[in-house]
Amino acid sequence: MKKLILSVAIAGTLLSTISPAFAYEQGDWVVRVGMTNIAPDDSSNNVNVAGADLGVGVNVDSNTQLGLNFVYFYSPQLAIEVLAATPFSHDIGLDTVGPLGNTKHLPPTVSANYYFSEPSAKFQPYVGAGINYTIFFDEKFTSANTDAGFSNLDLDSSFGLAAQVGFDYMLDDKWLINGSVRWIDIDTEASFDLNGAAGSVDVSIDPLIYSITAGYRF
Ligand code: NI
Repeated sequence: MKKLILSVAIAGTLLSTISPAFAYEQGDWVVRVGMTNIAPDDSSNNVNVAGADLGVGVNVDSNTQLGLNFVYFYSPQLAIEVLAATPFSHDIGLDTVGPLGNTKHLPPTVSANYYFSEPSAKFQPYVGAGINYTIFFDEKFTSANTDAGFSNLDLDSSFGLAAQVGFDYMLDDKWLINGSVRWIDIDTEASFDLNGAAGSVDVSIDPLIYSITAGYRF
């Protein structure tokens, strides 16, 4: 019996050294590339021009771009992740009226992710929290709105919190598939001119961001 237990123990040790090490290790880097979709959960107050409430708000549509993640593991459980992407482009609409304009933005986000990893698990879920800085650029009105006298559209940068849940699914000890859903607090004030009068509207974009990526560990 003792012999049997010993053989099982040895076989177990051999198996665990042979099976790929899926668990992350301190010093690991992971680069992920894939699709990232930003779906705004937008709301706004009413557009204001020269102190007058126009009685309508604005809305922001969704957009998908190439997403990039850079991840560094400080320990098998704790990783720092940077979210980057090609510029997102969102149409802005004037509620019940129609298209208003368009803006591009970049939402770089730095997160600390906590992994619930078991040493040999292929499925590695995590939760994360971080901070986001969103830079808007190329803001412009549609030509119809420009003709109607709108000009100088400008959206303030936004600084806010981010939270996420996600998973890495290890295909082998190098390659993985990742899925994540994040929420980012993005709020901005849009300012503009309408035939010489100053206008503005506060917009809460607060998107959910869905990513499906392929990753490589080194
Ligand atoms: Ni918000």
